[in-house]
Amino acid sequence: MSPISTHRHDDVLIVTSNNPPVNALGHAVREGLVKAIEEADADEAVKAVVIIAQGQTFFAGADISEFGTPKAFAQPMLPQVVDRIEACTKPVVAAIHGTAFGGGLEVALACHYRVAVPSAKLGVPEVKLGLLPGAGGTQRLPRVAGVRRALEMAATGNPVGAKEAYAAGLVDKLIEGDLLQHAVAYAHEVKDTRPLPKSSERDEKLREARENPGIFDEFRKANAKKFRGFDAPEFNVRAIEAAVAKPYSEGVTTERQLFMELMSGTQAKAQQYFFFAERKASKIEGLPEDTKPRDIRRVGVIGAGTMGGGISMNFLSAGIPVTIVEMAQDALDRGTGVMLKNYQATAAKGKMTAEQVGQAMGLLKPTLDFDALSECDLIIEAVFENMDVKKEVFGRLDKIAKPGAILASNTSYLNIDEIAASTSRPQDVVGLHFFSPANVMKLLEVVRGAKTAPDVLVTAMQLAKKIRKVAVVAGVCYGFIGNRMLIPRQTQAMRLLLEGATPEQVDRVHVEFGMPMGPFQMADLAGVDIGWHRDPSRIENIRDALCAIDRWGQKKSAGFYDYDEKRRPSPSAKVQEIIEEFRTREGVQEREISDQEIIERTLYTMVNEGALILEGGFAQRASDIDVVWIYGYGWPVYRGGPMFWADTEGLPKIVEGIRRQQERLGVDFKLSELLVRKAEAGEKFTR
Ligand code: 3HC
Ligand code: NAI
Repeated sequence: MSPISTHRHDDVLIVTSNNPPVNALGHAVREGLVKAIEEADADEAVKAVVIIAQGQTFFAGADISEFGTPKAFAQPMLPQVVDRIEACTKPVVAAIHGTAFGGGLEVALACHYRVAVPSAKLGVPEVKLGLLPGAGGTQRLPRVAGVRRALEMAATGNPVGAKEAYAAGLVDKLIEGDLLQHAVAYAHEVKDTRPLPKSSERDEKLREARENPGIFDEFRKANAKKFRGFDAPEFNVRAIEAAVAKPYSEGVTTERQLFMELMSGTQAKAQQYFFFAERKASKIEGLPEDTKPRDIRRVGVIGAGTMGGGISMNFLSAGIPVTIVEMAQDALDRGTGVMLKNYQATAAKGKMTAEQVGQAMGLLKPTLDFDALSECDLIIEAVFENMDVKKEVFGRLDKIAKPGAILASNTSYLNIDEIAASTSRPQDVVGLHFFSPANVMKLLEVVRGAKTAPDVLVTAMQLAKKIRKVAVVAGVCYGFIGNRMLIPRQTQAMRLLLEGATPEQVDRVHVEFGMPMGPFQMADLAGVDIGWHRDPSRIENIRDALCAIDRWGQKKSAGFYDYDEKRRPSPSAKVQEIIEEFRTREGVQEREISDQEIIERTLYTMVNEGALILEGGFAQRASDIDVVWIYGYGWPVYRGGPMFWADTEGLPKIVEGIRRQQERLGVDFKLSELLVRKAEAGEKFTR
């Protein structure tokens, strides 16, 4: 049965899509739409058409799962579908709810009129898949919404709300009440209007850019940092430039060429892979199908430091009350003060109202009374990273938490099973590893202990969604997925300094690769002293030497780099001196280090660690590792994460690179058998 059905209401033909979950424009939908328009044209009794969708949303775009399959090219393709809609001899009204995204917005733009409920969102997120709107969207959108807005929407992929779309002329009418009923009434109103307003024939909103073509370069310049490394934003800009510079028929040809070029590149493949990787991450294998989550009405947080405050904000922002406990009043006041300041900063940027700030903070109950946690359904511990302290806290929790409450630890490295063993209810214990700043970073590692109950895991995954995090399940191992993979990178980065590289060179290679910063910039930002033994007389490596002379990173204006009063880094002669001292001390011969060697020793070894993690069963799937690195550490999404990147490099090349470096990697380095096996068998991690 076709997902597209038609029925008449007086002289209006109602075309309904029913293609759950998101009414993606797969082949059957495209075919059905064309047939429906043909029916409208052929039937004299039909005077107008309404296109509407059932379920949660209007068409959310092309069917991404068809990409790379023959179905994507099966006729009619989307460009023909939208042209056919626009060519309909009767007025066509798009009735929008949910999300009119990508191809969905292109369908709406081809309709002669658009009506929408106020909660609807309209957007062209193709850029996030490494693409551009390939069904006339880059040509019609600037004609309807103006060039500046089209640039913003297409190159960033961010949607606009229906009210904003209405103000911009992208929506003709906002509908309060029943969408179908009002859309049909609207169709009645416009049924005799001729000529039909066609987006492709409009011109007036292109005028501004025709008179001032400089707006394109202004836009490029203003967004250069955001777009660094990505192909698709620039292609979107070029397609819109073509809309302004060329007649419509030539503009769409340019759009098609640019679209095909992007589609055949690795960035689009990486970004589309990541779209599904992110969604797959929330699925836990091997749990009973009927596992029901526990009810979480109030959350407790222990520790109001860097992490505890940020963690609390996530729940407060989602409307969930939080009880936060500290050891001393000043620490509690400091912690809640930082939270309020963060909310106020968000409000100052216009992203929150003062009332919302008040509401969020109103849900917070700061206290020194540990027993207050007895009313919480989930308690997250974020105290010092010390096993004895954590055990003591969990032992106490065991006595006061209500039966069935989930007891979570935010530990970065420590063994969750050992922590769980300090309670009488290890089935209720789980790791919830947030990333700093916890109120901003999207990643949450959910650490599954040997005894963690299925419903605890399901609750954690569901709750993550509620607080808008992307959760990935990790097993119990040192550093879980993300931090464990940092270890070989950090180890090799330090050795490279001894052998002749500079912090600047190592960081540059990482930044050119697409990371937001390199290992030394990261160390300076996070604090070189994190995990330091705090004994200035014990100097065993370069890091100890830096810590001993107070070079703790940005917070001290000195770390691997020197910093000026505006926190701008410059190479440090002192650091160079320390490196040279260690070189002499350890008898290492200085040599020229190539950028390729840096990649092989820091990034290939990370891939190897990812393979060891998979081998040990500490990650469910390779794509989960990629999600961790993209959302937790800013790995460039256009390279799809370390495991996808390894696949595109070719696993034999990775193994060969590691073997070439093996002697330098140190005695602790262990080559993953899984990696070698896959390389030899011509297999990949991610497909
Ligand atoms: N194609 C195929 N499947 C899609 C899809 C699409 N465009 N969009 C969503 N899905 C699937 C998801 O994979 C998921 O499947 P699963 O349940 O098996 O995991 C299911 O639909 C539900 O998706 P979400 O979990 O993301 O549901 P949400 O309610 O959180 O979000 C959404 C809904 C806002 C529509 C979000 O899914 C989304 O942003 N989708 C992508 C939209 C997009 O990128 N559109 C452009 C496509 S490219 C295009 O149109 C090219 C054209 O210009 C030629
Ligand atoms: P922090 O030192 O900023 O805060 C810890 C807070 O816990 C302090 O305010 C302290 O007074 C309080 N505290 C200690 N013992 C307590 C007790 N028994 N009862 C109540 N409060 C107590 O530390 P941070 O950085 O917030 O780290 C907390 C945990 O989060 C650690 O396990 C750390 O490994 C982990 N983590 C840290 C990240 C980071 O980037 N800082 C990232 C991810 C996890």
